[in-house]
Amino acid sequence: MREIKDAAIALKNGFLVAFPTETVYGLGADATNSYAVSRIFSIKNRPTNHPLILHIGEIEDLLQWAIEIPDYAFSLAKKYWPGPMTLILKRSNKVKDFVTGSQDTVGIRIPNHEIALSLLNEFKIIGSGAIVAPSANKFGKVSPTNFEHVHEELSKDLSNDDLILNGGQSQIGLESTIIDCTKDLPSVLRPGAISTELINEVIELDLSALPNQIRVSGSFKSHYAPNAKVVLDQTAEAGDGFIALSYVPTPAGAIRLNSPSNVEEFAKYIYADLRKADELKLKRVVVIQPEGSGLAVALRDRLKKASSQ
Ligand code: TXA
Ligand code: MG
Repeated sequence: MREIKDAAIALKNGFLVAFPTETVYGLGADATNSYAVSRIFSIKNRPTNHPLILHIGEIEDLLQWAIEIPDYAFSLAKKYWPGPMTLILKRSNKVKDFVTGSQDTVGIRIPNHEIALSLLNEFKIIGSGAIVAPSANKFGKVSPTNFEHVHEELSKDLSNDDLILNGGQSQIGLESTIIDCTKDLPSVLRPGAISTELINEVIELDLSALPNQIRVSGSFKSHYAPNAKVVLDQTAEAGDGFIALSYVPTPAGAIRLNSPSNVEEFAKYIYADLRKADELKLKRVVVIQPEGSGLAVALRDRLKKASSQ
């Protein structure tokens, strides 16, 4: 596809390419180009000590960008890549300080999206093959899960040579699971669609590990937040936005923003629903959280962060 070849060329020339993944859209740059990477930080208003995730196209590429990779990390990669899982590994000397915020570790993932994978393939032919990409939103705000969100939020900050690729709605809708693979046993730094149950199918998790030992910007208390105040599991009043599974009735006078029929659908559209609340200039959104394990854990994690201001 011409558009993808052009996007790879744009990356090679030091421009930015926002692209779809199965989790959320990313704002991408050549991982080896310090100027391009610095533009990501300034466009997002992101503090430079918040490291970026490196996206690669194939498992064998891992060996270029990470060292001392434990066997269990390879097992996880073989089972869940391409997919919504980021592995934190010791970085190789090809990964520069401007990517990791000077930490000696790097987050790496292979996204499971046709457009992202073709872009990574093309970029491997003509360039470094590694694309660093945070979610394509302003720091602290709601991640974009479709082309229109990225366009609305970032187009005024992008130049004519930067691109936004359209891949429709992201299938999963929540950011990848981040797994620290720098110790004898792995631990989860950010929950996502690769749940602890799925990780345990491959390797036992270290449950004693303290979360947030490494800097994870998503682990800031207030994050993923719309302008509207997000309130969890409380009674909605007239004029409030309201999001809950379809079996939960809408309280009188509340404005129903979505009625997902299961947790997958809830997660897939939650960021779009929160954006809807802002478009409607609502002051409050009440969300009735789904119970249970798996993806519901990740969804509740993001809702908790969206609700703390
Ligand atoms: O699903 C995703 O992961 C999306 C798509 C675009 O791939 N990306 C994403 O990137 O969510 P971002 O920058 O919004 O969140 C990446 C998180 C940040 O919280 C960052 O601090 C953490 O990953 N991270 C990156 N490198 C790390 C490292 N070496 N150690 C610990 N955390 C790291
Ligand atoms: Mg983000």
